[in-house]
Amino acid sequence: MANRTPLLAGNWKMNLNHVEAAGVVQKLAWTLADMNYEKDKAEAAVIVPFTDIRVVQTIIEGDKMPIAFGAQDVSVHDAGAYTGEISSEMLAKLNCRYVVVGHSERREYHGEDDAIVNAKAKKVLAAAMTPIICVGEKLEIRKEGTHVAFVLGQIDGVLAGLTAEQVAGLVIAYEPVWAIGTGEVATPDDAQEVCGAIRTRVGELFDDATAEKVRIQYGGSVKSSNVADIMAQPDVDGALVGGASLDPVEFARIVMFDKK
Ligand code: PGA
Repeated sequence: MANRTPLLAGNWKMNLNHVEAAGVVQKLAWTLADMNYEKDKAEAAVIVPFTDIRVVQTIIEGDKMPIAFGAQDVSVHDAGAYTGEISSEMLAKLNCRYVVVGHSERREYHGEDDAIVNAKAKKVLAAAMTPIICVGEKLEIRKEGTHVAFVLGQIDGVLAGLTAEQVAGLVIAYEPVWAIGTGEVATPDDAQEVCGAIRTRVGELFDDATAEKVRIQYGGSVKSSNVADIMAQPDVDGALVGGASLDPVEFARIVMFDKK
């Protein structure tokens, strides 16, 4: 993990309304405090539905909780006649630190390709937030054994036109689609194989210093019972956690992965 601070981010997806969100964030903060959480050792973040952001912001900032928060998607447009869209400026105004772009569910159900994901990442960076850019292969590609080349192709597309400085500060989430929400977790070696290859590619596309700085998460059926082995891999700097992040006690255990 070198000098990179791990990022454990809970992607709530389309779960928890704003009333429920308030309870979950409070319970997460109390549980982390009980476990003597130190934010310098690992960063905890919740990635919440748009309708929850204002409440989550108010509670976290009001009580100075050591939890970052962010959004699950953003528009490629700045403003205008785009019914239903949310701009990066709107998210920045709510003090979001992170914005997930290119989650496999956005790619699958909303036709997002690497060019759109790249455009969204640029909007997030322009608004001084940090994109969490998702990549990952489907089961057919894993079975063919071409997953590393496939993911590196996605990396080339999603990072196109970014500067080394921008890339050094962002987060890449490797999420094999076959492991998302299926209970089918990739082995620690599977996670390391692709996360390591991504870091090498970042070094080739930019430079070694950038590759050393960029944080690379693994995502897909991460739980408190498997997170420590995944986090022990040298190129895994965190986890993007779906289902298990809805339970604040379970998510706190994930954030405290090295304290079990
Ligand atoms: P999961 O989801 O942890 O429920 O598998 C991960 C994700 O989609 O980010």
